[in-house]
Amino acid sequence: MEPKTPSESRTLMTDMVLPSETNPLNNLFGGELLARMDRAASIAARRHSRRITVTASVNHVAFNQAVPVGSVVTVEAAVSRAFNTSMEIYIDVWMEDRFNGERSKVNEAIYTFVAVDDTGKPTRVPELKPETALEIDRFNAALRRKQLSLVLAGKMKPHDATELKALFVD
Ligand SMILES: CC(C)(COP(=O)(O)OP(=O)(O)OC[C@H]1O[C@@H](n2cnc3c(N)ncnc32)[C@H](O)[C@@H]1OP(=O)(O)O)[C@@H](O)C(=O)NCCC(=O)NCCS
Repeated sequence: MEPKTPSESRTLMTDMVLPSETNPLNNLFGGELLARMDRAASIAARRHSRRITVTASVNHVAFNQAVPVGSVVTVEAAVSRAFNTSMEIYIDVWMEDRFNGERSKVNEAIYTFVAVDDTGKPTRVPELKPETALEIDRFNAALRRKQLSLVLAGKMKPHDATELKALFVD
């Protein structure tokens, strides 16, 4: 399988925040944003693998800034690293200024998707070849995030999380 770049999976989803999607403070409801991010990440994972993909875990979400009703929100998702059958998807969420159109980053998240065959069995995915400085940074940090996620899920012993342990040892 030929390696692919993050640009080949990059997915942009732009939509408004409607009143039915808000909390009592008239800001975007967290679960609605999680769903939008999951959809964009799923498309990015599919573009990279050209397989059926399923969400394996949500590794990190930061709701840094409230998003008011009426806002125009863009969810940008791209594969940040591919392993054997799993892919880390990095998601940036942008809000567009109503007057000057400038975008500011309001949230980010990291999801893990797994490519599966028709029976749901995990199947191999192409490698990722990062190009920009940001893509290389995200690529390099992805293995320790995978190890942390596996340790927290009880699927890896902390002792085996070599990349994670290296963070704490000089
Ligand atoms: C995700 C799923 C396919 C993994 O199946 P599994 O039997 O655990 O398969 P494996 O142990 O071989 O793991 C497959 C890959 O997922 C990775 N993985 C599994 N759980 C993970 C987690 N919590 N965090 C990060 N990676 C994880 C494994 O490390 C492995 O990656 P690699 O092959 O790239 O090294 C399976 O658990 C599943 O189908 N879950 C339901 C998915 C779903 O329905 N999602 C929508 C929820 S509503």
